Amino acid sequence: MPLRDRRVIVTGGPTREWIDPVRYISNASSGKMGIALADAAFERGCETLFIHGPIDVSLLAGKNYRTVGIESTAELLHAVIEEISDGCVLIMAAAPADYCPAERSHEKIKKTGMELVIRLRKNPDILKRVAEERAAGNLNGIFVAGFAAETTDVERYAIGKLEDKNLDMICLNDVSAESAGFGKDTNIITIFKRGGSRTDLPVMPKRDAAERILDAIEESLQA
Ligand code: CTP
Repeated sequence: MPLRDRRVIVTGGPTREWIDPVRYISNASSGKMGIALADAAFERGCETLFIHGPIDVSLLAGKNYRTVGIESTAELLHAVIEEISDGCVLIMAAAPADYCPAERSHEKIKKTGMELVIRLRKNPDILKRVAEERAAGNLNGIFVAGFAAETTDVERYAIGKLEDKNLDMICLNDVSAESAGFGKDTNIITIFKRGGSRTDLPVMPKRDAAERILDAIEESLQA
């Protein structure tokens, strides 16, 4: 089935893990890459859903596809599992927080000693959960793409994630590069596919990178 006849779920932005009523753990993801992918999928005629963490609301203005807001990684997992179905294309451009506070205080934590220790607990890995469902024989015919935001040993880590998370494709972006990564309007992506193919894209606007990523998905779906 070609891409335009598929349901495309894109995730984007950070997640937020509350420590107390006024403080949270998060990261610098802006959601721009995710929105670029959702826009590109929608314009290709795909039924598109964008599941996003807390991002600048102006980025969502005027979208004609469904958008669903979540806050925490646990909520993102829940939303993805609820929405994904046979034949879907899932593109995980979100940057979910890997850890959350082991206890969330219902009252504002007051400053006391010179040090404050916050114990963190590992969050679920959404792509690994999807891979488990797929291995269990559920979610037939899905295509799963991940992102790898890296700063060191970038290729080794990206290929490791492709295998470890049982992905069909991973888009590596070196977030330490000047024109790539969090908050920027441009990106430098290398696409690795299951089976060993590799495509190095030059620096380009995130929207153009999104088109190239969808081209790569389209190519895999037709192979
Ligand atoms: N991801 C996920 N669930 C998480 C964390 C990440 O599904 N709890 C997804 C991201 O959306 C991305 C891919 O996994 O598509 C890689 O995310 P990244 O943050 O680069 O890697 P991690 O697996 O979190 O590993 P590390 O932070 O150690 O690099």
